[in-house]
Amino acid sequence: MTEQAARKPFLYVVVCAAGIAADVSKLITAAQERDWETGVIATPVAMNGFFDTAAVEALTGRPIRSAWRTPAEPRPFPAPDAVVVAPATFNTVNKWAAGIADTLALGTLCEAAGLGVPIAVLPCVADALAAHPAYRDSLERLRDMGVRFGEPYTGEPGDDGARPEFGWERALDLLERG
Ligand SMILES: Cc1cc2nc3c(=O)[nH]c(=O)nc-3n(C[C@H](O)[C@H](O)[C@H](O)COP(=O)(O)O)c2cc1C
Repeated sequence: MTEQAARKPFLYVVVCAAGIAADVSKLITAAQERDWETGVIATPVAMNGFFDTAAVEALTGRPIRSAWRTPAEPRPFPAPDAVVVAPATFNTVNKWAAGIADTLALGTLCEAAGLGVPIAVLPCVADALAAHPAYRDSLERLRDMGVRFGEPYTGEPGDDGARPEFGWERALDLLERG
């Protein structure tokens, strides 16, 4: 078998600065169990204490990417076979839909649809923010680009005071939807 044929499909996991990001290792583990190789691209704000970066680097075996490389540096990740954005914030969804590429995460997302690879998004956005008309427009625009969205998730605690399960595997199910 050639090296090319033996390569596992490569999944970009884009992580935004939402509180639920603390559990993103659940998504990486689930992806690895489904035979994806994973590389994490985090927004600069997400790198600032939203998840355990050392644990995620140990899990993926690769450095987390957040800043642009210098022109002389090689691309640290292979091209993606699929992209997941989880959790996706109000901020990142709106900037992505508007075509803003001022962080590595946004630049990667803006390019991804043009690459023709499947893209799955699990937003974590409070109802009060999701009511903003710009957010509704952004979802519509990204859906028109072929981006697949999970059901809305607000992160608000239920009557029992506990935050409902985020359901990280929904992202992988969306990728496999065909
Ligand atoms: C503790 C904490 C939790 C947050 N959780 C969310 C969230 O669930 N969803 C969201 O859209 N923004 C959330 N925010 C606000 C975002 O971090 C903020 O809008 C930030 O600019 C998003 O940056 P990013 O989209 O580049 O990751 C949270 C902020 C803090 C401090």
